Amino acid sequence: MKRLAVMTSGGDSPGMNAAIRAVVKLSAARGAHVLGCLDGYDGLIDGKFRELTRGIEHGAIGADLELDFAGGMGGTMIGTARSARFRELAGRQAAVEQMKKHGLEGLVVIGGNGSLTGAHMLATEFGIKVMGIPGSIDNDIGCTSTALGVDTALNTIVEACDKISDTARAHRRAFVVEVMGRSCGYLAMASSIAAGADAALIREQGKSEEQLVADVAAVVRNGYARGKRRVLVIKAEGISVPTTRLVRLVEETLAAEIAGVEIRATVLGHVVRGGNPSYMDRMVAGRFGLAAVEALLAGHTDEMVGWQPPVKGGLPTSDASVQRFPLERVLIETDALIDGSSPVTKRRLQLMELAAGVLPI
Ligand code: F6P
Repeated sequence: MKRLAVMTSGGDSPGMNAAIRAVVKLSAARGAHVLGCLDGYDGLIDGKFRELTRGIEHGAIGADLELDFAGGMGGTMIGTARSARFRELAGRQAAVEQMKKHGLEGLVVIGGNGSLTGAHMLATEFGIKVMGIPGSIDNDIGCTSTALGVDTALNTIVEACDKISDTARAHRRAFVVEVMGRSCGYLAMASSIAAGADAALIREQGKSEEQLVADVAAVVRNGYARGKRRVLVIKAEGISVPTTRLVRLVEETLAAEIAGVEIRATVLGHVVRGGNPSYMDRMVAGRFGLAAVEALLAGHTDEMVGWQPPVKGGLPTSDASVQRFPLERVLIETDALIDGSSPVTKRRLQLMELAAGVLPI
């Protein structure tokens, strides 16, 4: 394989640029040329590409200054999109035509569930050589214990909670902080422990609005009774009750009990998705990029590289921490993570139950 493309798709995540850098450098070192596909699958359909491999002809290995700088930055230097057109067969046919026209023999797709589904379709419907790299802050992708952006997002949340805690203690207030994660409560769970929060609320627990209000009220009540000056609850965005509504209902519940109780809502939103990638995300990105390109060049396709997967049975790469998994299996396990039938989700919930009795102390 002498010519391939790399694409970022879906929600951007810190570490995507570091993965692009690794894909370009490793390819250049192996004599393969890389085009960046702009704006995800939309760019593939429209034939929007840009050169990423520069300087091979001058004896340098691939990366120019832009690539080196971008490797340490959040977002994605080649743009991304959630493509509605690619969900249609006509869109996918147009994308395959563009790949042929540009002489592209393979494609590395960096993204989450929808992006990997698209890669699987290209492989199964058209025989395109594809390799997936998990990139999503949500950590909701099967067959990998982390995805690009998860570590950085957690660091951002913890830092934000530290700051919120400063002002909370100053005024003696309770806060409910909402974090991203789509349907997956991982970011809320993991950050609640790291930030020393009093509780985490996640969709997977399946609680009704009444239960959520009662739970948060109990946490605030107990916190105040213990003399705490800060009560912090981290809520996953997957919970359908809006954070402002939850806070209002809890305040109404406690108004008669605790004089002057003050509860504030903070929605961190897209702040959680931005920022320069952490060491961990850059390091994992580099190793994912390397393994993905090696696998493509060796003729493998329709797979994703995963990080120290908790499940056994993957096919080895040259990196012991990175294994390859068929995309079909990845997509099935991703569905199971979200619908709660995955052992990973069950384990996370058990851990959360254990933590629930300890966090508010
Ligand atoms: O999947 C990543 C993610 O940031 C989710 O956590 C969030 O629900 C969603 O994307 C937001 O998407 P958008 O940027 O399109 O609003």
